[in-house]
Amino acid sequence: MDQQILSFPVLVSFLLFIFLVFRIWKKYNDYTPPPGPWQLPLFGNLHQLAGSALPHNRLRDLTRIYGPVMGIQLGQVPALVISSPEAAKEVMKIQDVQFANRPLVLATKWWLIMYITGDKSRFEIWHRELDQILEEIIKEHRASKAVSKNRDLSEADNLLDVLLNLQENGNLEVPLTNDCIKGTILNYGMGNGRVDEESNSNEKAQEEVRHVFGKKGKVDEADLHELKYLKLVVKETLRLHPPDAMIPRQCREKTQIYGYDINPKTKVFVHIWAIGRDPNIWIEADKFLPERFIDSSIDFKGSNFEFIPFGAGKRICPGMTLGLVNLELVLAQLLYHFDWKLPDGITPENLDMSEGFGGAIKRGVDLKLIPIPFRPQPITRICN
Ligand code: HEM
Repeated sequence: MDQQILSFPVLVSFLLFIFLVFRIWKKYNDYTPPPGPWQLPLFGNLHQLAGSALPHNRLRDLTRIYGPVMGIQLGQVPALVISSPEAAKEVMKIQDVQFANRPLVLATKWWLIMYITGDKSRFEIWHRELDQILEEIIKEHRASKAVSKNRDLSEADNLLDVLLNLQENGNLEVPLTNDCIKGTILNYGMGNGRVDEESNSNEKAQEEVRHVFGKKGKVDEADLHELKYLKLVVKETLRLHPPDAMIPRQCREKTQIYGYDINPKTKVFVHIWAIGRDPNIWIEADKFLPERFIDSSIDFKGSNFEFIPFGAGKRICPGMTLGLVNLELVLAQLLYHFDWKLPDGITPENLDMSEGFGGAIKRGVDLKLIPIPFRPQPITRICN
C-alpha cells in the first residue's frame, strides 16, 4: 500500500515531465516551412538565381512550381517570395503591421546584385561616375542654351533641351531638379520604347497630346488631366515594367501565411512583376494593350492587389502623385515636340524589348530612336 502511495507522485511527475518534453519538442519541431526549391549548403538558392535569365524571371518561374508563397534561402538569409494578389494582400494589408519593416540592404534596387556578387564598391564608383557624366552634359547644354537665349519651347531640338526648358519656364508646382532630369534621361528609354513598340498606341497618344495642347502651343500641368489615353499608356507601362520588380519587406514577429510558418527577420519580396504578367489575371498578359484599362476599376492606388506598382498599405510609395505627374509631363512633352521614328531595319515588331540585369527594371538593349522635331503651326489669333 505504502509503495502504491509513493509511486503515485512519481507517476504524476513522470507524466508531467513527458508532457513538458513533448511541448518543447512540438515548439521547435512543429514548424511548417513554405514550399520552395532545394537548397545548397551555404549558398541556399543563389545558384538557381544566377545564369543567363534575369533573377526576377527565374523567381517567377520557380513560383509557378512552388506556389504564391515560396520560401528560398539567399545564402544564409531566409526569404519569402509572394506572387499572387491574395498573398500580397495578406502581407501588405491583412498583416501589414507584421510586414511593415524594410530589410536592411544598402540600396533596395540593388539587393540582388549585392547578394550575388557582394560587390558594393564597384557599384558606388560606377554610380558616382555616371552622375558626374550626366552633370557635365547638363552643364554643357545649359551653357549652349545661354548663348542662344531667345529660343522658345517649340524650338528645342533634343530631349535634354525640352527638360531644361521645362525646368526654367515650365512653372511647375513641383520643381524639376537636376536629379529628376538625370533620372528621366536614364529611364525614359523603357517607357518611350514601349510606346514606340506599339506604333498604334504611340500615334493615339501623340494625337491626343497635340489635340489637347495644340491651341496653347505648349504642354503644361493645367490640362494634364485631359490626357485620358496617355494615362492608360502610363498604367499599362507600369503593369508590364514596374521600375521595381519586387517590393522588399521584412517579417517582424513569427507569423503564418496560408498555414506556413514565417520566422522573424525573414526577407519578403512581393513579386509585382510576376503578378502584373500573370495570365490567370490578365488577358493577353504579355501584350501592351493600354485599352485594357478603359472602363476598368483597377487602379494602382493600393487596393487592387493585382496591380501594385507603387506598393500598398502603410509603406505605399509617398511619391506616387509626384512620380506620375513627372512621368506624364515628360512623356507628353516628348510626344508633343517630336515625331519618333525607328532606325532603318527596326520595326515595332522586331524591336528588342528584353530587360536588363539589375534590381530596378531597365532595358536590355539600348533604345535607338530618331527624334524629328515637330514645329506646331503658329496660331492666328481670332479677335471678335
Ligand atoms: C513612377 C514612379 C514611382 C514608382 C513606380 C514608385 C514605386 C515605389 C514602390 C513600389 C515602393 C515600395 C512601396 C511598398 O513597400 O509598399 C516605393 C517606396 C517609396 N517611394 Fe516610390 N515610386 C515612384 C516614384 C517616387 C518618387 C517621385 C518619390 C519621391 C519624391 C518616391 C519616394 C518613395 C519613398 C520615400 C518610398 C519608401 C516609403 C516607405 O518605405 O515607407 N517614389 N516607391
